[in-house]
Amino acid sequence: MTFETLLYERDDDGIALVTINRPDKLNALNATVIDELDRCFAAMAADDAVRGVVLTGAGPKSFVAGADISRFPDLDAVSGRRMALRGQAVFNRIEAMPRPVVAAVNGYALGGGCELAMACHLRVAAENARFGQPEVDLGLIPGYGGTQRLPRLVGRGLATEMILTGAPIDARRAHAIGLVNRVVPAEELLDAAKGLAATIAKKAPVAVALSLEAIRASELDLPHGLAHEAALFGQACATEDFKEGVAAFLERRKAAFKGR
Ligand code: COA
Repeated sequence: MTFETLLYERDDDGIALVTINRPDKLNALNATVIDELDRCFAAMAADDAVRGVVLTGAGPKSFVAGADISRFPDLDAVSGRRMALRGQAVFNRIEAMPRPVVAAVNGYALGGGCELAMACHLRVAAENARFGQPEVDLGLIPGYGGTQRLPRLVGRGLATEMILTGAPIDARRAHAIGLVNRVVPAEELLDAAKGLAATIAKKAPVAVALSLEAIRASELDLPHGLAHEAALFGQACATEDFKEGVAAFLERRKAAFKGR
């Protein structure tokens, strides 16, 4: 499979390595990345030769530094909600993979990057990984599932703190609160993530697929939560503070929010 923004390879164990490849933009998720993740995971789900997946970001600095903020100035309530629903649908497809999907988190996993890692079944982090939901600094809320998956993974109190302060946490802290499964030195990250996927790939495939489906079923109200998140994301996109927050990021200055 060939893509503009993804690299794809598969090893002898049937473990696919999918690398988001925009390192000059810290692998930010633009519409092409979202579309290509959709296509890539659809193809892998239909390919029995793929026994497991490792998802990572190109370069040593970043897994994914969020949705691509350069597309934000044009967003309004309608297009914002549509963007959130589209990203959520692709992340749901990743979560619905019948074979294990392991995020190998190298560096920043912020905003949509943290949400993408959470849509994977398991997370292995390099020691330099940083996790956060900084949308509030842009006058925005998480829109790719963060308000729903973060409380489920780490509990409501810690998720609320992360979403309301926007402050990132390091890999050790992420491990301590259950956001990641393992922390390893950066140079061991890909081998550790592939090893975890390969271990699971050797188990009974149907039992693995049914386990993943049963675990997903423990979240039966997730679809309603995601729909609500997308509607509120759209509302946030219609505020002056959102325009100001995005302009401030793009102009590299501090935002002056007015509360409207
Ligand atoms: N969307 C679009 N571009 C992004 C981006 C994003 N989410 N995150 C980083 N980039 C771009 C920068 O604009 C810059 O591009 P340029 O070289 O063309 O100017 C490049 O990636 C490198 O980022 P830079 O900010 O210079 O790196 P840094 O090491 O100083 O800071 C971060 C790294 C992650 C702290 C900073 O990039 C950041 O805060 N990014 C936004 C995180 C965020 O708010 N994500 C949630 C979005 S909803």
